[in-house]
Amino acid sequence: MNHTNITERFIFSDGESRLLGVFGDPISHSLSPKIHNLSLAKLDLNYHYLPFHVKPHELSTAINGFKALGGVGFNATVPHKVPLVPLMDNLDAAALKIGAVNTVAIDENGKFNGYNTDAYGFITALKEKYNEALSQKNILVLGAGGACRAALLALLDEGADKIFLANRTVTKAKELSYDFNQHYPKATITPIPLNFSSLELSNIDLIVNTTSLGLHGEDNFPLAIEQLPSHALVYDIVYSANQDTPLQKLANSQGLTFIDGLGMLIHQAARAFQIWTGEEMPVDLVKSHIFGK
Ligand SMILES: NC(=O)c1ccc[n+]([C@@H]2O[C@H](COP(=O)([O-])OP(=O)(O)OC[C@H]3O[C@@H](n4cnc5c(N)ncnc54)[C@H](OP(=O)(O)O)[C@@H]3O)[C@@H](O)[C@H]2O)c1
Repeated sequence: MNHTNITERFIFSDGESRLLGVFGDPISHSLSPKIHNLSLAKLDLNYHYLPFHVKPHELSTAINGFKALGGVGFNATVPHKVPLVPLMDNLDAAALKIGAVNTVAIDENGKFNGYNTDAYGFITALKEKYNEALSQKNILVLGAGGACRAALLALLDEGADKIFLANRTVTKAKELSYDFNQHYPKATITPIPLNFSSLELSNIDLIVNTTSLGLHGEDNFPLAIEQLPSHALVYDIVYSANQDTPLQKLANSQGLTFIDGLGMLIHQAARAFQIWTGEEMPVDLVKSHIFGK
Protein backbone atom coordinates (compact mmCIF):
# COMPACT_ATOMS: atom_id res chain seq x y z
CA MET A 1 0.00 0.00 0.00
CA ASN A 2 1.30 3.45 -0.82
CA HIS A 3 -1.44 5.93 0.10
CA THR A 4 0.06 8.72 2.15
CA ASN A 5 -3.11 10.79 2.03
CA ILE A 6 -5.19 9.95 5.12
CA THR A 7 -8.57 9.78 3.33
CA GLU A 8 -7.12 7.57 0.62
CA ARG A 9 -5.66 5.29 3.24
CA PHE A 10 -9.07 4.59 4.76
CA ILE A 11 -10.62 3.95 1.33
CA PHE A 12 -7.87 1.49 0.52
CA SER A 13 -8.03 -0.42 3.84
CA ASP A 14 -7.37 -4.07 3.21
CA GLY A 15 -7.07 -7.36 5.04
CA GLU A 16 -3.58 -6.39 6.17
CA SER A 17 -4.70 -3.14 7.85
CA ARG A 18 -4.07 -3.18 11.60
CA LEU A 19 -6.27 -1.48 14.16
CA LEU A 20 -5.14 1.01 16.81
CA GLY A 21 -7.32 3.28 18.94
CA VAL A 22 -7.94 5.35 22.03
CA PHE A 23 -10.53 4.60 24.72
CA GLY A 24 -12.00 7.42 26.80
CA ASP A 25 -15.17 8.89 28.27
CA PRO A 26 -15.55 11.51 26.86
CA ILE A 27 -13.42 11.03 23.74
CA SER A 28 -14.52 13.53 21.10
CA HIS A 29 -11.94 16.13 22.27
CA SER A 30 -8.99 13.74 21.85
CA LEU A 31 -6.23 14.89 19.52
CA SER A 32 -4.62 11.44 19.48
CA PRO A 33 -6.37 10.16 16.30
CA LYS A 34 -5.04 13.17 14.34
CA ILE A 35 -1.52 12.77 15.74
CA HIS A 36 -1.31 9.05 15.02
CA ASN A 37 -3.12 8.94 11.66
CA LEU A 38 -0.98 11.77 10.31
CA SER A 39 2.17 9.94 11.43
CA LEU A 40 0.98 6.57 10.04
CA ALA A 41 0.18 8.22 6.71
CA LYS A 42 3.53 10.00 6.55
CA LEU A 43 5.41 6.73 7.15
CA ASP A 44 2.99 4.77 4.93
CA LEU A 45 2.24 2.24 7.68
CA ASN A 46 -0.90 0.14 7.16
CA TYR A 47 -2.63 0.88 10.48
CA HIS A 48 -5.77 2.89 11.35
CA TYR A 49 -6.22 4.68 14.68
CA LEU A 50 -9.81 5.29 15.84
CA PRO A 51 -11.41 7.00 18.88
CA PHE A 52 -13.72 4.79 20.98
CA HIS A 53 -16.19 6.18 23.50
CA VAL A 54 -16.04 3.56 26.25
CA LYS A 55 -18.08 3.88 29.45
CA PRO A 56 -16.27 2.82 32.65
CA HIS A 57 -18.47 -0.26 33.24
CA GLU A 58 -17.73 -1.45 29.65
CA LEU A 59 -13.94 -1.21 29.86
CA SER A 60 -13.22 -4.92 30.28
CA THR A 61 -15.71 -5.87 27.54
CA ALA A 62 -14.26 -3.18 25.27
CA ILE A 63 -10.63 -4.26 25.55
CA ASN A 64 -11.49 -7.92 25.01
CA GLY A 65 -13.78 -7.07 22.08
CA PHE A 66 -11.02 -4.93 20.58
CA LYS A 67 -8.62 -7.87 20.88
CA ALA A 68 -11.20 -10.24 19.32
CA LEU A 69 -11.43 -7.88 16.33
CA GLY A 70 -7.68 -8.11 15.85
CA GLY A 71 -6.73 -4.75 17.41
CA VAL A 72 -3.01 -4.49 18.12
CA GLY A 73 -2.77 -1.51 20.47
CA PHE A 74 -4.63 1.33 22.10
CA ASN A 75 -4.25 4.39 24.28
CA ALA A 76 -6.36 5.13 27.35
CA THR A 77 -7.42 8.50 28.62
CA VAL A 78 -9.68 9.72 31.46
CA PRO A 79 -11.17 7.78 33.29
CA HIS A 80 -9.60 4.48 32.21
CA LYS A 81 -5.88 4.81 33.05
CA VAL A 82 -6.09 3.44 36.61
CA PRO A 83 -8.86 0.82 36.05
CA LEU A 84 -6.79 -0.70 33.22
CA VAL A 85 -3.99 -1.74 35.59
CA PRO A 86 -5.60 -4.96 36.95
CA LEU A 87 -6.77 -5.89 33.42
CA MET A 88 -3.18 -6.13 32.11
CA ASP A 89 -1.09 -9.32 31.80
CA ASN A 90 2.18 -7.35 32.08
CA LEU A 91 3.10 -3.83 33.21
CA ASP A 92 6.22 -1.82 32.44
CA ALA A 93 8.17 -0.20 35.29
CA ALA A 94 6.61 3.25 34.76
CA ALA A 95 3.03 1.90 34.77
CA LEU A 96 3.82 -0.03 37.96
CA LYS A 97 5.27 2.99 39.80
CA ILE A 98 2.63 5.42 38.52
CA GLY A 99 -0.24 2.98 39.02
CA ALA A 100 -1.81 3.88 35.67
CA VAL A 101 -1.68 2.66 32.06
CA ASN A 102 -2.00 4.98 29.05
CA THR A 103 -0.71 2.64 26.32
CA VAL A 104 -1.51 -1.02 25.68
CA ALA A 105 0.13 -3.34 23.16
CA ILE A 106 -1.61 -6.65 22.44
CA ASP A 107 1.01 -9.24 21.52
CA GLU A 108 0.79 -12.26 19.21
CA ASN A 109 -0.20 -14.46 22.20
CA GLY A 110 -3.14 -12.17 22.95
CA LYS A 111 -1.52 -10.75 26.11
CA PHE A 112 -2.24 -7.18 27.18
CA ASN A 113 1.04 -5.33 27.84
CA GLY A 114 0.46 -2.09 29.74
CA TYR A 115 2.80 0.90 29.54
CA ASN A 116 2.81 4.42 30.88
CA THR A 117 4.41 6.87 28.46
CA ASP A 118 3.24 10.05 30.23
CA ALA A 119 6.40 10.38 32.36
CA TYR A 120 8.55 10.08 29.21
CA GLY A 121 6.38 12.67 27.44
CA PHE A 122 6.56 15.02 30.41
CA ILE A 123 10.34 14.97 30.79
CA THR A 124 11.10 15.02 27.05
CA ALA A 125 9.02 18.18 26.61
CA LEU A 126 10.69 19.76 29.67
CA LYS A 127 14.20 19.00 28.40
CA GLU A 128 13.43 20.59 25.05
CA LYS A 129 13.40 23.97 26.81
CA TYR A 130 15.24 23.43 30.10
CA ASN A 131 18.77 22.05 30.05
CA GLU A 132 19.71 22.55 33.69
CA ALA A 133 20.23 19.74 36.21
CA LEU A 134 17.19 19.31 38.48
CA SER A 135 19.22 18.42 41.57
CA GLN A 136 19.10 21.20 44.21
CA LYS A 137 16.39 23.07 42.29
CA ASN A 138 13.32 24.14 44.29
CA ILE A 139 10.41 22.66 42.39
CA LEU A 140 6.75 23.39 43.12
CA VAL A 141 4.32 20.82 41.71
CA LEU A 142 0.60 21.60 41.82
CA GLY A 143 -1.80 18.63 41.95
CA ALA A 144 -1.88 15.05 43.23
CA GLY A 145 -3.83 13.15 40.56
CA GLY A 146 -2.76 10.60 37.95
CA ALA A 147 -0.83 13.04 35.77
CA CYS A 148 0.97 14.32 38.86
CA ARG A 149 2.23 10.81 39.61
CA ALA A 150 3.75 10.66 36.11
CA ALA A 151 5.32 14.11 36.48
CA LEU A 152 6.75 13.25 39.93
CA LEU A 153 8.26 10.00 38.67
CA ALA A 154 9.84 11.80 35.72
CA LEU A 155 11.25 14.64 37.87
CA LEU A 156 12.66 12.27 40.52
CA ASP A 157 14.19 9.93 37.92
CA GLU A 158 15.84 12.98 36.38
CA GLY A 159 17.48 13.89 39.72
CA ALA A 160 15.03 16.31 41.35
CA ASP A 161 15.47 16.22 45.13
CA LYS A 162 13.53 19.21 46.52
CA ILE A 163 9.86 19.14 45.63
CA PHE A 164 6.92 20.95 47.21
CA LEU A 165 3.64 19.22 46.39
CA ALA A 166 0.58 21.48 46.66
CA ASN A 167 -2.94 20.11 46.29
CA ARG A 168 -6.49 21.28 47.05
CA THR A 169 -7.10 18.04 48.97
CA VAL A 170 -3.95 18.08 51.04
CA THR A 171 -4.40 14.50 52.31
CA LYS A 172 -3.86 13.31 48.71
CA ALA A 173 -0.61 15.30 48.53
CA LYS A 174 0.46 13.72 51.82
CA GLU A 175 -0.29 10.19 50.56
CA LEU A 176 1.56 10.83 47.31
CA SER A 177 4.60 12.31 49.11
CA TYR A 178 4.72 9.34 51.45
CA ASP A 179 4.47 6.92 48.54
CA PHE A 180 7.24 8.52 46.47
CA ASN A 181 9.49 9.12 49.49
CA GLN A 182 9.55 5.32 49.95
CA HIS A 183 10.96 4.89 46.42
CA TYR A 184 13.18 7.99 46.46
CA PRO A 185 14.47 8.29 50.06
CA LYS A 186 17.15 10.87 49.14
CA ALA A 187 14.56 13.34 47.86
CA THR A 188 12.53 15.68 50.07
CA ILE A 189 8.90 15.87 48.96
CA THR A 190 6.90 18.28 51.11
CA PRO A 191 3.08 18.22 50.93
CA ILE A 192 1.34 21.60 51.30
CA PRO A 193 -2.19 22.93 50.68
CA LEU A 194 -2.90 24.56 47.30
CA ASN A 195 -3.67 27.89 49.00
CA PHE A 196 -0.22 27.81 50.62
CA SER A 197 1.06 30.83 52.49
CA SER A 198 4.09 29.19 54.10
CA LEU A 199 6.04 28.78 50.87
CA GLU A 200 8.51 31.46 49.75
CA LEU A 201 7.82 31.66 46.03
CA SER A 202 10.90 33.81 45.41
CA ASN A 203 13.01 30.62 45.94
CA ILE A 204 11.16 28.54 43.36
CA ASP A 205 13.08 27.61 40.19
CA LEU A 206 10.47 25.51 38.42
CA ILE A 207 6.71 25.32 38.81
CA VAL A 208 4.62 22.55 37.27
CA ASN A 209 0.83 22.57 37.09
CA THR A 210 -0.73 19.11 36.93
CA THR A 211 -4.16 20.09 38.28
CA SER A 212 -6.99 20.30 35.79
CA LEU A 213 -7.33 24.04 36.50
CA GLY A 214 -7.46 25.80 33.15
CA LEU A 215 -8.91 22.82 31.31
CA HIS A 216 -12.39 24.32 31.27
CA GLY A 217 -11.35 27.85 30.29
CA GLU A 218 -11.35 29.23 33.86
CA ASP A 219 -10.08 32.81 34.06
CA ASN A 220 -8.29 32.68 37.37
CA PHE A 221 -5.32 30.70 38.54
CA PRO A 222 -4.64 30.94 42.31
CA LEU A 223 -0.94 31.84 42.23
CA ALA A 224 0.90 35.04 43.20
CA ILE A 225 3.03 34.78 40.07
CA GLU A 226 4.74 38.15 40.63
CA GLN A 227 6.57 36.58 43.59
CA LEU A 228 8.44 34.08 41.39
CA PRO A 229 12.02 35.00 40.44
CA SER A 230 12.61 36.09 36.85
CA HIS A 231 14.57 32.89 36.04
CA ALA A 232 11.66 30.63 37.09
CA LEU A 233 10.26 28.30 34.47
CA VAL A 234 6.49 27.67 34.37
CA TYR A 235 5.25 24.35 32.96
CA ASP A 236 1.51 23.77 32.53
CA ILE A 237 0.65 20.24 31.42
CA VAL A 238 -2.94 21.31 30.77
CA TYR A 239 -3.19 22.05 27.06
CA SER A 240 -5.50 23.87 24.80
CA ALA A 241 -4.76 23.87 21.08
CA ASN A 242 -6.68 27.11 20.53
CA GLN A 243 -6.11 29.46 23.47
CA ASP A 244 -3.65 30.25 26.25
CA THR A 245 -4.35 28.61 29.62
CA PRO A 246 -4.87 30.94 32.63
CA LEU A 247 -1.41 29.97 33.94
CA GLN A 248 0.13 30.72 30.55
CA LYS A 249 -1.43 34.18 30.60
CA LEU A 250 0.05 34.79 34.08
CA ALA A 251 3.50 33.56 33.01
CA ASN A 252 3.39 35.75 29.89
CA SER A 253 2.38 38.78 31.97
CA GLN A 254 5.61 38.38 33.97
CA GLY A 255 7.81 37.50 30.98
CA LEU A 256 8.58 34.04 32.44
CA THR A 257 9.65 31.13 30.26
CA PHE A 258 6.64 28.87 29.70
CA ILE A 259 6.11 25.31 28.48
CA ASP A 260 2.63 24.15 27.51
CA GLY A 261 1.21 20.60 27.62
CA LEU A 262 1.26 19.99 23.87
CA GLY A 263 4.88 18.80 23.94
CA MET A 264 4.03 16.22 26.61
CA LEU A 265 1.01 15.12 24.60
CA ILE A 266 3.07 14.64 21.43
CA HIS A 267 6.00 12.89 23.12
CA GLN A 268 3.83 10.44 25.09
CA ALA A 269 2.16 9.64 21.75
CA ALA A 270 5.55 9.25 20.05
CA ARG A 271 6.63 6.64 22.59
CA ALA A 272 3.35 4.72 22.16
CA PHE A 273 3.77 4.89 18.36
CA GLN A 274 7.25 3.44 18.71
CA ILE A 275 5.98 0.61 20.96
CA TRP A 276 3.30 -0.39 18.41
CA THR A 277 5.07 0.14 15.09
CA GLY A 278 8.79 0.09 15.95
CA GLU A 279 9.08 3.40 14.04
CA GLU A 280 9.90 6.95 15.16
CA MET A 281 6.95 9.34 15.01
CA PRO A 282 7.64 12.36 12.75
CA VAL A 283 7.32 14.70 15.74
CA ASP A 284 8.24 17.92 13.89
CA LEU A 285 5.62 17.22 11.24
CA VAL A 286 2.97 16.65 13.94
CA LYS A 287 3.96 19.89 15.67
CA SER A 288 3.76 21.95 12.52
CA HIS A 289 0.85 20.25 10.78
CA ILE A 290 -1.54 19.80 13.72
CA PHE A 291 -0.46 22.47 16.16
CA GLY A 292 1.03 25.07 13.84
CA LYS A 293 4.25 25.16 15.90
N1 LIG B 1 -0.26 17.20 28.36
C1 LIG B 1 -0.55 15.92 28.50
O1 LIG B 1 -0.12 15.07 27.72
C2 LIG B 1 -1.40 15.49 29.67
C3 LIG B 1 -1.35 14.16 30.10
C4 LIG B 1 -2.15 13.78 31.18
C5 LIG B 1 -2.98 14.73 31.80
N2 LIG B 1 -2.98 16.01 31.34
C6 LIG B 1 -3.83 17.02 31.98
O2 LIG B 1 -3.54 17.07 33.36
C7 LIG B 1 -4.69 17.42 34.10
C8 LIG B 1 -4.89 16.48 35.28
O3 LIG B 1 -5.14 15.18 34.81
P1 LIG B 1 -5.20 13.95 35.84
O4 LIG B 1 -5.31 12.73 35.01
O5 LIG B 1 -4.11 14.03 36.86
O6 LIG B 1 -6.59 14.22 36.57
P2 LIG B 1 -7.02 13.73 38.03
O7 LIG B 1 -6.35 12.47 38.42
O8 LIG B 1 -8.49 13.80 38.04
O9 LIG B 1 -6.45 14.89 39.03
C9 LIG B 1 -6.97 16.19 38.98
C10 LIG B 1 -6.13 17.12 39.87
O10 LIG B 1 -6.62 18.45 39.68
C11 LIG B 1 -7.04 18.99 40.95
N3 LIG B 1 -8.18 19.84 40.73
C12 LIG B 1 -9.27 19.58 39.97
N4 LIG B 1 -10.13 20.62 39.99
C13 LIG B 1 -9.57 21.58 40.78
C14 LIG B 1 -9.96 22.88 41.20
N5 LIG B 1 -11.11 23.42 40.79
N6 LIG B 1 -9.14 23.58 42.00
C15 LIG B 1 -7.96 23.04 42.39
N7 LIG B 1 -7.52 21.82 42.04
C16 LIG B 1 -8.32 21.09 41.24
C17 LIG B 1 -7.36 17.78 41.79
O11 LIG B 1 -7.30 18.15 43.15
P3 LIG B 1 -8.08 17.28 44.28
O12 LIG B 1 -7.17 16.14 44.59
O13 LIG B 1 -8.24 18.23 45.40
O14 LIG B 1 -9.38 16.86 43.66
C18 LIG B 1 -6.23 16.83 41.36
O15 LIG B 1 -5.01 17.18 41.97
C19 LIG B 1 -5.86 17.39 33.09
O16 LIG B 1 -6.13 18.72 32.72
C20 LIG B 1 -5.30 16.62 31.93
O17 LIG B 1 -5.88 17.04 30.69
C21 LIG B 1 -2.20 16.42 30.30
